[in-house]
Amino acid sequence: MTGQRDAIPPILLVGCGRMGSALLAGWEADGLQRSAIVDPDPAFPATSASPSFASRHDLVRDIASLPAEFRPRAVVLAVKPQAADAAMAALAERLGDRLGDAVILSIMAGRTLSGLAAALPRASGLVRAMPNTPASIGRGISVAVASPGTSAAQHALCDRLLRAAGGVEWVEDEALLDPVTAVSGSGPAYVFLLAELMEQAGRAQGLPPALARRLARETVTGAGALLAASPDEDAAALRIAVTSPGGTTQAALGVLMRQDAWPTSVADAIEAATERSRALAR
Ligand SMILES: NC(=O)c1ccc[n+]([C@@H]2O[C@H](COP(=O)([O-])OP(=O)(O)OC[C@H]3O[C@@H](n4cnc5c(N)ncnc54)[C@H](OP(=O)(O)O)[C@@H]3O)[C@@H](O)[C@H]2O)c1
Repeated sequence: MTGQRDAIPPILLVGCGRMGSALLAGWEADGLQRSAIVDPDPAFPATSASPSFASRHDLVRDIASLPAEFRPRAVVLAVKPQAADAAMAALAERLGDRLGDAVILSIMAGRTLSGLAAALPRASGLVRAMPNTPASIGRGISVAVASPGTSAAQHALCDRLLRAAGGVEWVEDEALLDPVTAVSGSGPAYVFLLAELMEQAGRAQGLPPALARRLARETVTGAGALLAASPDEDAAALRIAVTSPGGTTQAALGVLMRQDAWPTSVADAIEAATERSRALAR
């Protein structure tokens, strides 16, 4: 990518934990101009991954320590929601009159566009996005929504910042971020649970622990890769293709697909997560 198009302009990343460092790794790979990263922990993952990183960017422990002349083109908020109020108050105080054309890109769960606008009244553009953890290997999927005042250039910059970690979808209706959070934001955990339960069940049927673990992991990742390699096929078609009448797969699916089994529990789980997302946003 680098060399074929301009480097990403200066970014202020607030919070460099799991998600912030995953995004940062993608931006670095895409070419990132001198940026600033705020995190209380100076040993956050990006610094240990690349020793020259600290010389290429400004790493500070708090917003008050940002270089006076620093003018970011985007401020990416990647702290936990419970740390958001303090971070945004510090940002408004320190950068209030220097936000200029910078767009605010928040990936914080449950923090609405109106809440962001109230906390950062001088921001000219606001984008709220929900990524997921496969972002750490460039295989995330993010869904984003922009406030009406967000310019086309700000929209394009946020799209580029999110695309560095995987796919991006934009929606107009912010309320969709709640079911998005339930399906893709929290979704990787459901898949990890599946691997966990398959491993346990394999052991219960007599498989040695290491073999049960390997079979469960390889099956989940292999099936996921097959799904990714078959973009025009419904998941249901792939399932039907491996289900012989009267065979072993059908015996298992007869249990899993009972109306009171997966159809109900997955629907209930997604509903519970959607409701929780709505409650967090209140
Ligand atoms: N993980 C996910 O699957 C996922 C998916 C979608 C969206 N998100 C959202 O992404 C955000 C970050 O999640 P995460 O999993 O990356 O959390 P995380 O690993 O805890 O990262 C947050 C980082 O922000 C730092 N921090 C705390 N207060 C700060 C402040 N005032 N200024 C600057 N940095 C500060 C934390 O430092 P300390 O640890 O020292 O407090 C930590 O390094 C959350 O809002 C979450 O809703 C996460």
